[in-house]
Amino acid sequence: MVKDSSRYAASGGWGFGRFIDGKAADKAQHETCPACHSAVVRNHDLVFTRWAP
Ligand code: HEC
Repeated sequence: MVKDSSRYAASGGWGFGRFIDGKAADKAQHETCPACHSAVVRNHDLVFTRWAP
């Protein structure tokens, strides 16, 4: 996850990325991320890590 409130305004300021064996998952899977996070974990605000390709 990446926090950027202007770039990811539509999903509460968080960008979501899921990778399986180094490949990004499809769009449909990513659309499930913000829905659950905003319902279940909205007050946690989670972790910050550095993008490491
Ligand atoms: C069914 C609900 C649900 C869905 C869907 C979901 N998450 Fe989560 N996610 C959670 C919960 C609950 C936690 C735990 C939060 C906490 O303990 O603060 C979590 C935690 C995380 C964390 C933090 C892990 C850590 O160790 O700190 C990341 C990153 C994350 N989710 C990414 C994603 C991504 C990317 C997607 C979509 C592919 C996604 N999540 C979809 C419920 C969900």
